[in-house]
Amino acid sequence: MTKTALHETILTGAAMERRIDELAAFSDDPECLTRLTLRLAHRKAAGRVSAWMREAGLETRIDALGTVVGRRAGAAPDAPVLLLGSHIDTVRDAGRYDGNYGVIAAIAVLDELNRTGARLPFAIEALAFGDEEGVRFSSTLTGSRAVAGTFDPAALDDTDATGMTRGEALLGFGADPEPARSEARDPKKTIGYVELHIEQGPVLESLGLPIGLVTAINGGTRAEIVVQGQSGHAGTLPMPMRRDALAAAAEMMLAIEEAALGHRDLVATVGRIEVPRGAANTVPGAARMSLDLRSSDDALRNSAVDAVREAIRRIAQKRGVTASLDITYQMPATLCDKALMAGLETSFTRLGFKPFHLSSGAGHDAMSFRGAIPCAMIFTRCRRGVSHHPDEYASPDDMEAAARVLMDFILSLGEKL
Ligand code: HGY
Ligand code: MN
Ligand code: MN
Repeated sequence: MTKTALHETILTGAAMERRIDELAAFSDDPECLTRLTLRLAHRKAAGRVSAWMREAGLETRIDALGTVVGRRAGAAPDAPVLLLGSHIDTVRDAGRYDGNYGVIAAIAVLDELNRTGARLPFAIEALAFGDEEGVRFSSTLTGSRAVAGTFDPAALDDTDATGMTRGEALLGFGADPEPARSEARDPKKTIGYVELHIEQGPVLESLGLPIGLVTAINGGTRAEIVVQGQSGHAGTLPMPMRRDALAAAAEMMLAIEEAALGHRDLVATVGRIEVPRGAANTVPGAARMSLDLRSSDDALRNSAVDAVREAIRRIAQKRGVTASLDITYQMPATLCDKALMAGLETSFTRLGFKPFHLSSGAGHDAMSFRGAIPCAMIFTRCRRGVSHHPDEYASPDDMEAAARVLMDFILSLGEKL
């Protein structure tokens, strides 16, 4: 008997939860789960994921952008390929399910196919992307964009807070970014990309549903806003003479919030603000903050960017400071593929699950495939909708439900193709 046949199935919620906990141990921060792209914890997590992929009988490699690729061959060498996966990088002080669950579920399904010896007319690849959150570098989705053929080599020159470029970080990680362009899959030979992910919102839980079928992923714009004023002594500089960059940024932040409050389908977040070389007894001379705008309506999101630009111009003028807004990332809304959704919907129903449709407010690697390769997503319920937080949680039953739907979808695809 081969080694693969000896281990018991991991296509269970309990087995997947054990792996979620195992992967959560790899963190750059001993106090909480933080696994930024291409740092040591990501490298260690990639090693564990590679081992799981090998146990599932997959041919594994680390690609030019640091993605762990596990491939199950199809009946013929030039068989079409179905792509599965998600990401194993995290935000700071993260939850352990965001991204990691989708990788673990994809491997569990492939492991089960291997255990049962299922013969399929197509190849399948499990992809553990390592650059979805965009925390260490301002650009993001480089791994999935490389696979989708939408990668921009300029991203290799992005620098992190220490000044290290992504290209240097990739070499340190053990990846060679040189052949990045060759990672693109041939759309004519790619059936699609299917990603399992926690909802990261409250909808499924509010309806008492364990899983749901994603219709679209909201578009997003990220930008850096820099405000330049004049620093001075906190004790001697009279208030009317101040050009306080942080106070100006604070007023801009409230104007940004105001702009989004006016629209149900628009969210705006300033998630990070810094005063370079700030001190308690110095009037802030400069401030820089992040901007994150999301909507399912691209026109509304773009008009919100214009409204924010106008607000920061007006406030800067009033306060005698200067301000700039530079877009660092933008992605239009992504519609999920109707044919893939129809296939998944049949599996939902066959397994007794209501195929509830919902859109995604969060971004995902699936967005990278927009306009190149058909994509679809299955969401699992997420306790109290909490995510990007250590309390993030998806139950073993819900994780198993989505994985079994994916398994059923793959087997029925095998009968059709
Ligand atoms: O920002 C997002 O929506 C994703 O978690 N990266
Ligand atoms: Mn995610
Ligand atoms: Mn996330």
